[in-house]
Amino acid sequence: MEKSRSVHKAVIPVAGLGTRFLPATKATPKEMLPVVDKPAIQYVVEEAVAAGVKDLLFVTGRNKDTLENHFDHAPNLERTLAERGANDLYKSVVELADLARIHYVRQGNPLGLGHAVGMAKEHVGDEPFAVLLGDDLVDERTPILPKMFETQTKFGGTVLALMEVPSDQIHLYGCAAIKETNETDVVQVTSVVEKPKAGNAPSNYAVIGRYVLDPAIFKILETTQPGAGGEIQLTDAIAKLIDLPTAQGGGVHAVIFRGKRYDTGDKLSYLKSVVSIALDRKDLGDDLRTWLKSYLSE
Ligand code: G1P
Repeated sequence: MEKSRSVHKAVIPVAGLGTRFLPATKATPKEMLPVVDKPAIQYVVEEAVAAGVKDLLFVTGRNKDTLENHFDHAPNLERTLAERGANDLYKSVVELADLARIHYVRQGNPLGLGHAVGMAKEHVGDEPFAVLLGDDLVDERTPILPKMFETQTKFGGTVLALMEVPSDQIHLYGCAAIKETNETDVVQVTSVVEKPKAGNAPSNYAVIGRYVLDPAIFKILETTQPGAGGEIQLTDAIAKLIDLPTAQGGGVHAVIFRGKRYDTGDKLSYLKSVVSIALDRKDLGDDLRTWLKSYLSE
């Protein structure tokens, strides 16, 4: 029997303009860029499903068609693959349509991550929910969501995922000040700030793109003003949850992530992610490694 779990829904913001990948993202959402042979978004959906969350809400922009199609049936393609006896490919295509129950809401104006999450209010209702950002891929061998769900059940409130990064990288992330708890790798968050300037960061703990949020966030988001980069920041709303009484959904903890994560948010990290994931693949890894070695020694 499945263990009782507090989180049943996940929100996946996919409305970003993908400007860092133009012109590739002119007509294709950045979440559809392939990481080996799957679009990045598929890894994220599979991660949520593996953690037992099948009700997903995509917060989309003007670019939703290919995303919707990817997670739907493609009758002509399915028929052709079946006729050709291409069983593995057929399975890989058909299974996508039943992977999760995906719902869609349009963000309208891309006003920031906080604004995107705010769009999920009606769908989510009054229960804790997960948010997964598509730029962060978490290696399936070192999942983080199960521990975050456990932590939410135990402590209530909101749960973040933190990763230690070098000081010269922290300005790229939300950054949290923390206090230890008596549970290994679970900490209490005492403050959180979005993209601190060099030298101003309260710690080296970076917020990675996995959240379990208390629904109290929605009311806060309604009045959250634009912050870093002129955008309505999720981090700023989370900061307000820290001081909210527990009875009102306040309190923020975090799980320290020590697993493997891939960043697909900018070109260089994306390329590194593709190479690392391909090197790990049984069907490609050995040949790619041999080729890379000889290519680099030339
Ligand atoms: C977003 C969040 C940031 C977080 C990061 C993780 O920033 O605002 O707090 O650290 O994701 O990837 P973005 O990378 O969208 O600028």
